[in-house]
Amino acid sequence: MNRTMHRIMPALVLGALALGQPLSADPARDAIINQLKAEAGVSSFSAERGKQFFHARHSGGKPQTPSCATCHTSDPRNSGQTRVGKVIEPMAVSRNPSRFTDPKKVAKWFRRNCRSVLGRECSAREKGDFLTYLSNL
Ligand code: HEC
Repeated sequence: MNRTMHRIMPALVLGALALGQPLSADPARDAIINQLKAEAGVSSFSAERGKQFFHARHSGGKPQTPSCATCHTSDPRNSGQTRVGKVIEPMAVSRNPSRFTDPKKVAKWFRRNCRSVLGRECSAREKGDFLTYLSNL
C-alpha cells in the first residue's frame, strides 16, 4: 500500500461503514454481479442457493471433480488445492478481497470449472448465487 492509500484507507473504511456496506464491497465485483442479474433476469441472488451449489456433488462432469469444493475445499475461507497440489488462495472475499474483481478472470474460470464439474457452462443464476455466497461469507 502506498502513502496515499494509507491516508485515505480510514476514510474509505468509515465511508463503507456509514453506508452499511460490507468492507469487502468493491465496484468491480458489484458490476459483475449486476451484469449477471441482467443476464438472469432477476433482481437478487441467493447466498443460500450458492452455498448448496458450491458444496453439492454434481454429475455430468469429470469423475475426479464432482464439486466446486473438490479444489476450493469444504470451507472456502481456507486455501484450496488443484488436482496437482498447487495452492489456490481462499475463495471467500472476506479472506481474499481481490476475488471476483476481474471480469475476464471470472468468466475464464467459470467456463473452465463449470465444464469440469457439471459438464456444461453454469447459468447466470448459478454464477450469481455462487458469487453472492462467497462475497458474504
Ligand atoms: C480442478 C480444480 C477446481 C475445481 C473443481 C473448481 N475450481 Fe474454481 N478455480 C480453480 C483454480 C486453479 C482457479 C484459479 C486460481 C485462483 O483464482 O486462485 C479457480 C478460480 C475460480 C474462479 C475465479 C476466481 C476469481 O478470483 O475471479 C471462479 C469464479 C471459480 N473458480 C469458480 C468455480 C466453480 C463455480 C466451481 C464449481 C462448479 C469451481 N470453481 C471448481 C480450480 C478449481
